[in-house]
Amino acid sequence: MAFPDSFLQELSERSDIVDVVSGYVRLGKRSGANLFGLCPFHSEKTPSFAVNPEKQIYHCFGCGKGGSVFNFIMEMEHLSFRDAVAFLARRAGMELPEEQQDETARIRQRLYALNREAARWFYDRLVSPAGQPGRAYLTKRGISPPIARSFGLGYAPDAWGELLETLTGRGYSTAELLQAGLIKSGRSGGHYDVFRNRLMFPVIDVRGNVVAFSGRLLDGEGPKYLNSPETPVFSKSRNLFGLNLAKKSKSGYILLVEGNIDVVSLHQAGFDSAVASLGTSLTPEQARLLTRYTSEVILAYDADAAGQKASSRAIGILERLDLKVRVLTIPGAKDPDEFLKTRGADAFRALLDKSEDRMDYRLRAITEKYDRETDEGRVAFVREATGMVAGLPSPVEREIYAARVAELAGVRAETVLQEAERLRKRRTVQARRDYERQTLQPVRQAQPEPRSIRYENPRSAVAEEGLIRLLYLDPGLFSGMEEPPPELFSSPVLERLFRQIKRQADAGSVISLAALGEQFTSDEMSLLTGILQEPADLQNGKKAIADYITTMRREAAKRTAGQSYAERAREIAAEKRKNTGYTNGR
Ligand code: UTP
Ligand code: MN
Repeated sequence: MAFPDSFLQELSERSDIVDVVSGYVRLGKRSGANLFGLCPFHSEKTPSFAVNPEKQIYHCFGCGKGGSVFNFIMEMEHLSFRDAVAFLARRAGMELPEEQQDETARIRQRLYALNREAARWFYDRLVSPAGQPGRAYLTKRGISPPIARSFGLGYAPDAWGELLETLTGRGYSTAELLQAGLIKSGRSGGHYDVFRNRLMFPVIDVRGNVVAFSGRLLDGEGPKYLNSPETPVFSKSRNLFGLNLAKKSKSGYILLVEGNIDVVSLHQAGFDSAVASLGTSLTPEQARLLTRYTSEVILAYDADAAGQKASSRAIGILERLDLKVRVLTIPGAKDPDEFLKTRGADAFRALLDKSEDRMDYRLRAITEKYDRETDEGRVAFVREATGMVAGLPSPVEREIYAARVAELAGVRAETVLQEAERLRKRRTVQARRDYERQTLQPVRQAQPEPRSIRYENPRSAVAEEGLIRLLYLDPGLFSGMEEPPPELFSSPVLERLFRQIKRQADAGSVISLAALGEQFTSDEMSLLTGILQEPADLQNGKKAIADYITTMRREAAKRTAGQSYAERAREIAAEKRKNTGYTNGR
């Protein structure tokens, strides 16, 4: 939606470009009409980045970037125009115009504010006398105070109601605190703080909002990490810890690691593009988020078997989005944090330089598993490697790596390639069968989990769900798609979900579960998250969409036919009643 001019006008008046830019760039003395500094958008040693206070614009004579304060924030924070406006409005203490009316947006704003207060409170605890255990833990883990500050780390004291008391004292209701996942209801009707005796990592989204918390236990009994639940402002699968900072990195790649601690240590050692996936294995949504900030991802997962398995999965997800993927292997330490502690930043830099291209990594992993000296070993090697080649999205890559595999096994390249293509076809057929089986599922099974939602036409609903799943995961599929009219949807909820996702895609925003949260009940949101958990064949997205729409059309035709039969039957019955003089109740 568009903002009123008067609002933008006032916002730009309250967002002086020199003030805003100074938050990111050290501007020197005035020279002529301009203030100069080192350009934040490209690497340089002599300042060619000019800010003009009269015109309220910036321009870099080195890289040519320039614009208004809005462009600066869009560029710097990697935000859409809308989000840049929101960002500056928050900074200027102005409310966004539509938020003055929109109740659900208001709830979200409350949650953002509440989370921010909570983060500030955790931080204050950490630096207060009571925060001694937290500070001791930071020292033990080698995390310096400035880096703790830049991540906004905090300390949740070993107490049951301090946060609850503080925040209710500042006007937040227990309902809001429950909704944010910061407190829980006790058996006797009271409430208690969820995070206790923990080092607190605020999860901050790319717009700078505190959306959740991850708390690491300092000592004693209990789960090592506790994370905020899904809330109207937080979805675990669509956020990455550290991305708020990493998105500003100039390294040219994103370093994806497993642990929050790894992220903090890496940033401290100067690797400022590290992010972690909040304890889930990388999701397609997280990967899609990364594509907005980088074209290259370097995986530095834990050295153990679980970490290596997670790497393979992540590679599969990232390569489908055309991201360049490299894999870093950590020798002699369990994770990047431990490696940095024992070997230092230079040694890590060397690992980065040696990181393998994803294909070298995969081939090496498979080669190491088999003894290619024996026939048996060679057969097994070819079998697994061919399976890997079959999964590559690009035909050119399939051909090239089929040849590599063939060479490693001493067989002909065509043999491997043919086998890979055959496997690929078989997998597609299998995927199709699975899909068909799914659509033919008995009615009862196709009904959604939340009891309040029932499907009238489950066969169509399954196709509708499929459509939503694909478009949600890859809104690019909207382009060139023949848009199904509302009546093709058998389920009103699915129709609404479809419209909302479409609306967000049209607005060019990242499709966010959180934003949908405004429009849907929690049952409806659970339905959606359920839908998104099913596997989607993004590789054949366009084809799958066409199939789904065909099914919907076929089912819709049956529905209309069914309806007219019913109408016709009613008419005939009415006719008969008239003719026989028969009426009800006599
Ligand atoms: P790790 O156990 O490797 O944690 O889990 P870590 O951050 O590296 O911490 P240290 O160095 O061992 O102390 C990796 C990530 O998995 C999630 C957290 O996000 C953690 O950072 N996790 C882990 C959970 O969500 N819950 C858990 O119980 C454990
Ligand atoms: Mn770890």
